[in-house]
Amino acid sequence: MTASLALGRNVKSLRGRDLISIADLSSEELQFIIQTALDFKRRFYAGERIIPVLRGKTLLMIFQKPSTRTRISFEQAMVQLGGYVISLGWKEMQLGRGETIADTARVLSRYVDGVVARVYNHGDLVELAKYAAIPVINALSDKEHPCQIIGDMLTILEKKGRLAGLTIAFVGDGGDNVLHSLLLASAKLGINIKIGTAEGYDPDPEIMKLAMEDANRTGASIEVLRSPEDAVKGADVVYTDVWVSMGQEAEREKRIKDLSRFRVTPELMSLAKSDAIFMHCLPAHRGMEVTDEVIDGPQSVVWDQAENRLHAQKAILALLL
Ligand code: CP
Ligand code: NVA
Repeated sequence: MTASLALGRNVKSLRGRDLISIADLSSEELQFIIQTALDFKRRFYAGERIIPVLRGKTLLMIFQKPSTRTRISFEQAMVQLGGYVISLGWKEMQLGRGETIADTARVLSRYVDGVVARVYNHGDLVELAKYAAIPVINALSDKEHPCQIIGDMLTILEKKGRLAGLTIAFVGDGGDNVLHSLLLASAKLGINIKIGTAEGYDPDPEIMKLAMEDANRTGASIEVLRSPEDAVKGADVVYTDVWVSMGQEAEREKRIKDLSRFRVTPELMSLAKSDAIFMHCLPAHRGMEVTDEVIDGPQSVVWDQAENRLHAQKAILALLL
C-alpha cells in the first residue's frame, strides 16, 4: 500500500533533542519521524542498505532489563547508518556499583554522540537526560516505550494508508508502558483509541491528561472501557501487550487473574472491522494475552511490526544524532 504523511515536512531539525517520551514531540515532529522512517525503509528495499549519515558517530546503549528487538534493531540501525555502537548492561558499568546517574551522564557526554537506555525507573532516564549534553533516547522504561510506538505508527500507516481517523483498540493492561506511548501518539496523530482494561489497571493519570489535551486539539477520542468486546467493536487495529511487564513479576498471579477477561481470541477479533489488523510489540506470552490462532493468523502483522523497529530506529538516530 502506498502511504505517506502530508504533514511533518515543515520540521526543521530534531538534532540534539532527547526522546524520553512521545510527549517530547509535537504532532508535526512525530509525523516527520514516521515519514523519515518510511523513507529509510523504501530506500533500504530499493537497494540502499547502507546510508552513512552517521559515519564517525558512536551510540552507547545501556540495558537494565533484557531486550531482543530494541537492542538488535538499534545496533543494526547504527550499522546501516555507518556509525558505531557500544552496548552494555547497567551492572557492567559503575552505575551498578552506585556511581550517580548525573556523574555517569557527564562522563558519557565526553565520549559518545548519543545514549539509548532501557531502565526500570522512568525517573532515571529523566535524570540521565538532565545531566547529559548528548541526546538520550528511551529504549523502554516502566512508564513509556516511545521508539516502539514510532515503529508501530509506520506499520499502521503502511497497512492502512493513513493514520488520522483510524480507531485503535488496546486490550489488556491499561497501565502498560507501550500503551502509554500509544495513547500519547494516537492523540497527537488524530487516531481514536479505545482501551479495554480491568478496574485498577487504568492508564497513568498524567499520561491521560497529556493525551486528552492533544486529543482535544486533533479531534481524536479516548475511551477507557471495562468490556474487551466494547473496546474492539469496529476497530481498525487491535493491539495488546503482556499482562506482566518486566519488573512486575511479584504481582504475576494477581495480574493474570484480574486481566484474564482481556485475552485477544479469534472471537474477540471478529468484533473488530473485517480488515482489522492485530498488533503486539512482542515478546508475546502465547495463550495468555493472545491466542496462537490470532498471533499466527491472517490479521496479524507482528513480524512486519518487529521489522519496522529497525527502520524507525534509523529515523530516530539520524534525526537526533
Ligand atoms: N518490543 C520490544 O521492545 O522488544 P524487546 O524487549 O525484545 O526489545
Ligand atoms: N510491557 C512490556 C513491553 C516489553 C517490550 C514490558 O515492559 O515488559
